[in-house]
Amino acid sequence: MTRLLPCILSSILSLVAAEQPSAPNPVAAPMRSLPWGDLNFLQTTDTHGWQAGHLQEAQYSADWGDYISFAERMREKADTMGVDLLLVDTGDRIEGNGLYDGSTPKGEYFYDIMKEQHIDVICTGNHELYQADAAAREYDITVPNFSGRYLASNLDYINPETGKPVPMAQRYRKFTTKNRGIRVLAFGFLFDFTGNANNTVVQPVEQTIKEDWFQEAIREDVDLFLIIGHVTLRGPEYKALYDAIRGQKWDTPIQFFGGHSHIRNYAKYDSNAHGLQAGRYMETIGWMSIKGLGGSKKVEEESRELKTRSTPTFKRRYIDNNLFGYHYHTGLNDTTFPTEHGKNVSAMINDARKELKLDHTFGCAPKDLWMSRAKYPSSDSLFSWLEKEVLPVVVVNEERKGVPTLALANTGTLRFDVFKGAFTKDTTFIISPFVSKFLVIKDVPYKSAKGILDLLNNGGPVFETSDFHTSQLAPPEQLSVLEDITPATLAQDHFDAFKSQQEQIPLISRSEKDSPDLIPGYTTKDEGGSDGDDTIHSPITFYRVPNCVQAPISFPAEGDPENVDLVFVDFIQPWILMALQFKGEKYGKQDVQSYTNSTLTELLAGWIKDNWSHDC
Ligand SMILES: *[C@@H]1O[C@H](CO)[C@@H](O)[C@H](O)[C@H]1NC(C)=O
Ligand SMILES: *[C@@H]1O[C@H](CO)[C@@H](O)[C@H](O)[C@H]1NC(C)=O
Ligand SMILES: *[C@@H]1O[C@H](CO)[C@@H](O)[C@H](O)[C@H]1NC(C)=O
Ligand SMILES: *[C@@H]1O[C@H](CO)[C@@H](O)[C@H](O)[C@H]1NC(C)=O
Ligand SMILES: *[C@@H]1O[C@H](CO)[C@@H](O)[C@H](O)[C@H]1NC(C)=O
Ligand SMILES: *[C@@H]1O[C@H](CO)[C@@H](O)[C@H](O)[C@H]1NC(C)=O
Repeated sequence: MTRLLPCILSSILSLVAAEQPSAPNPVAAPMRSLPWGDLNFLQTTDTHGWQAGHLQEAQYSADWGDYISFAERMREKADTMGVDLLLVDTGDRIEGNGLYDGSTPKGEYFYDIMKEQHIDVICTGNHELYQADAAAREYDITVPNFSGRYLASNLDYINPETGKPVPMAQRYRKFTTKNRGIRVLAFGFLFDFTGNANNTVVQPVEQTIKEDWFQEAIREDVDLFLIIGHVTLRGPEYKALYDAIRGQKWDTPIQFFGGHSHIRNYAKYDSNAHGLQAGRYMETIGWMSIKGLGGSKKVEEESRELKTRSTPTFKRRYIDNNLFGYHYHTGLNDTTFPTEHGKNVSAMINDARKELKLDHTFGCAPKDLWMSRAKYPSSDSLFSWLEKEVLPVVVVNEERKGVPTLALANTGTLRFDVFKGAFTKDTTFIISPFVSKFLVIKDVPYKSAKGILDLLNNGGPVFETSDFHTSQLAPPEQLSVLEDITPATLAQDHFDAFKSQQEQIPLISRSEKDSPDLIPGYTTKDEGGSDGDDTIHSPITFYRVPNCVQAPISFPAEGDPENVDLVFVDFIQPWILMALQFKGEKYGKQDVQSYTNSTLTELLAGWIKDNWSHDC
């Protein structure tokens, strides 16, 4: 083990223990330190309920309580240095882990855990808005819990009593930082999302920009515009916001924080406007620092130096979420690092996991199944497993027994890898957090049905001009890379771009055969260069996955069936209807019926109980 630690604290290693009792010990690796500035940020995004940390991956095993200790220690450090530290969260806090999804109603313990972190600027993601009850909890709980710090620049909530839209939260926030007196004007945006439940209204960003309040806000004299959002850094929404601000203020520094596509990413819009995106699932804490910002409380002797500096300098790091790194960055150890508050929150998480019985084991996975680390199709591919082993068994409707059936699911419906070992209640939500059920269109001519998979996987003219781009069917990590690319132009050079982006996707390797000196993980290349990761890893290879997979069920031994029942996950209904139309079939919403009452998550749990029931 010490061989992995060229210059670091090998002696404390054995004493490092993550706060969740069942979490693996964090692993050590060569580190890069954090560059500090006058104003510094920690960012979380797309945490999707992973506040307990990764209990099967040592590299990301710190929990929300550890992150609270980290933030508190870093604030102390900032105060000592006379600089400022702000915390940002850019949404998609819910859906994707048993800690949120495992209770009825959802989030019974989650919101109380989340609110313990002091976040300075926070906004909404699309996942907070898919279900009306989740959106209502956001308005009733999260917004008041982060009162004054929750921003909703382009989002309204429909008051259930009056039926009238009201701002989800305040539109923007103007404040002055504690130590340096930096005047900040902050906004909180959501991308132009259209899949929200009917109790919220998302205003397209391009329209918000035209509103009087926004136009007045961007004319204010401040030291920094802080734009946080559940928006990809290179999405059209941030382009529009950048243009609008630069139209008024040609050189006021702008710091963007993005999210949604689950990658580590950095953007330089101009020398004075940069953007950071901090990955997903509590794997990554983003670090951003800006040096040379104006501020009323500048230290005397520095002001001369600052005046001569033409533009501020922006620096970033992606922090792997583990205790080893937290100790390294704070210069503290197992005894001195945790705060009482952080320890209390780790205990809250442990209690919640017990109450929710998240460690209840359904069975034992005989091997790792990968979303994109294994080729599709192959015996190690999660999607081959779904298509060949799971769908044919769980897609059942007694009334349609024996009827030839084509069952389709989009790959985005599964959200994470399966690791060899215990398959718990928690795992079912991690793999499949959505409340997706199966729908059916009965007796579809096979000659039309058989071509649908190909249409969904390869796009084509039918989808190009609609809101229903087929890339929305794949996992978000893949979607983001393709967002500026139409299917028709998805040529070789884009695959190369895709491959280099894919190398950013993290996972810890089970075998370290390939690279004995480094642990496989994020090796991010972004617009800031290749030194962004705080932990130096060896790279991992990833493969593209199709948008959808399909299983034929109860097909005749020989020859094609005349008609089939076309069964599909409810999320993809709009694409299925469009594809059928393209094939010349006249089906509409009225022809779609329910096929299963159980959700895919419940059906998966059932399959695991039946097939992997042995102990590990
Ligand atoms: C969080 O919101 C809940 C529901 O409105 C409220 O009961 C609780 O007091 C709030 N907590 C804080 C710290 O604001
Ligand atoms: C939203 O949809 C539900 C169910 O379709 C309906 O009962 C409700 O009245 C709608 N609410 C609003 C605000 O339109
Ligand atoms: C942690 O650091 C403190 C203060 O430097 C020191 O007294 C203590 O021995 C250290 N503990 C461990 C376990 O290394
Ligand atoms: C931690 O929990 C203990 C026991 O419940 C409580 O007395 C204490 O005030 C809490 N401390 C903090 C900082 O939350
Ligand atoms: C779903 O449940 C309802 C009510 O229990 C039942 O009538 C219906 O047949 C079920 N549908 C399926 C597809 O199992
Ligand atoms: C899983 O269990 C079902 C039901 O017992 C069975 O029909 C199926 O063959 C099993 N699949 C595998 C791959 O063992």
